[in-house]
Amino acid sequence: MAEIVDHELHIVMFPWLAFGHMIPFIEVAKHMARKGHRISFVSTPQNIDRLPRISPELTTLIDFVKIPLPAVENLPENAEATSDLTYDKVQYLKKAYDLLREPMTRLLESLAPDFVIYDFVPYWLGPIARNLGIKTAMFSIYIAATLVFTGPTWASMGGDHRKRPEDFTVPPEWVPFKTHVAFPYFAIKRIFDAVEGNASGVSDMHRFGAAEEGADIITLRSSYEVEPEWLKLLEELHQKPVFPVGQLPPPSAGDCNSRDETKSWQRIKQWLDLQRKSSVVYVAFGSEAKPSQDELTKIALGLEKSGLPFFWVLRTQLGSSDTDSVKLPDGFEERVKGRGFVWTTWAPQVSILANDSVGGILTHSGWGSVVEALCFERALILFALLSDQGLNVRFMEEKKMGYPIPRNESDGSFTSDDVAESLRLVLVEEEGKVYRDKAKEMKEVLGNPHLQEQYMDNLLNHMKANRPMTRSNK
Ligand SMILES: *[C@@H]1O[C@H](CO)[C@@H](O)[C@H](O)[C@H]1NC(C)=O
Ligand SMILES: *[C@@H]1O[C@H](CO)[C@@H](O)[C@H](O)[C@H]1NC(C)=O
Ligand SMILES: *[C@@H]1O[C@H](CO)[C@@H](O)[C@H](O)[C@H]1NC(C)=O
Repeated sequence: MAEIVDHELHIVMFPWLAFGHMIPFIEVAKHMARKGHRISFVSTPQNIDRLPRISPELTTLIDFVKIPLPAVENLPENAEATSDLTYDKVQYLKKAYDLLREPMTRLLESLAPDFVIYDFVPYWLGPIARNLGIKTAMFSIYIAATLVFTGPTWASMGGDHRKRPEDFTVPPEWVPFKTHVAFPYFAIKRIFDAVEGNASGVSDMHRFGAAEEGADIITLRSSYEVEPEWLKLLEELHQKPVFPVGQLPPPSAGDCNSRDETKSWQRIKQWLDLQRKSSVVYVAFGSEAKPSQDELTKIALGLEKSGLPFFWVLRTQLGSSDTDSVKLPDGFEERVKGRGFVWTTWAPQVSILANDSVGGILTHSGWGSVVEALCFERALILFALLSDQGLNVRFMEEKKMGYPIPRNESDGSFTSDDVAESLRLVLVEEEGKVYRDKAKEMKEVLGNPHLQEQYMDNLLNHMKANRPMTRSNK
């Protein structure tokens, strides 16, 4: 049962239309609801229908509010999340999302919450909420190192001297310590519209800056145990309170295995049960992107050459409007039969990672997957596809948290031998023991429920003490 407190808050949450964003927002909502606070979780109808169900004891405290997504030209019908779209179409989703400004204003007026917690994409929401006397928090699913890289607001909102892709391949001038956290050239090149702006007319850089400026506090999925130097710098750059919410670890292994009775899990479980302890590579690149045909071919051949058992969750198409679907090399599935399992629909990632047959994960390096893998002590082999992933790879490489597949910095190329060698290094070779040991060490830090509780309490105590005056003495 949720504990009922007399000074509960009413909090509106407004994530970006990507499951990699909505899921951590839901996790935060659940933590807050467990402390008795009321949440209005706002998104578009199809997204809300596709979110994982929340447990019955929280349903009275978390209210899902559906607002329809306006149609815009070039946005495929029925696409409401980035996972429904190829990367080049996401700009139109942002354009449609910006049209929610009016409905969101009316919604905030009628709900009159104490706080609104918003993502970086709705850069316009801060001033609207302030005018209505509502307190604001930006919640970033990106780690502090990434937020620092986007810059202080003077830079992200127009004053940045960084204009060319090359400028983003070195750490920015406002980082006073030595680091390699910056984009490889090929990675920033792929997402350079994030800097230049695109169909929505507003760059992601500007969105970050304006969202940060409009927020009373900055919150993020992070912890001082993992990136103390970056969190401290983030606070200095913005001169406002920064509250890491913790790493939001998944429920413990026992919990998710026992709850997962789906047919697909039964099939996967049978296969995993046949594998040796710590022998399997789990391969997954997230819901937002897929490897190119060339990347996919090399990864497949690399898995084959590695000789290791693997379970590969492969998305071959991003939404029904994706005409450029990718396929496995000829004869691949026959050649790896028994040893490798390619799964092309949604897979229960946490249940798979929780199984002790899995020794490591070849991951796109999205932070959500990183946390899930490390909470179960799975060693990381890193391969970025999009967005902040390139920065995460450098961050983790620097902290020895994972091993990146070596790639040509300028065009991102790599060979299937690079893939095979990286996998064997991290899973079996003696020189790769450092990554397996680090995974054990990180489990204590990332999966610690007591720490998680403390971070959430710190944030909520601050929010309670800083709720809007007019509503504080009801
Ligand atoms: C937006 O950016 C993408 C990727 O860089 C590019 O392919 C597309 O042409 C751009 N669209 C507009 C309208 O600028
Ligand atoms: C998981 O892996 C271990 C060790 O490889 C195995 O013994 C166990 O039965 C597996 N299945 C589940 C559901 O935990
Ligand atoms: C990396 O790729 C670039 C561009 O394709 C090429 O000119 C360069 O020689 C490559 N570097 C290495 C070390 O292979």
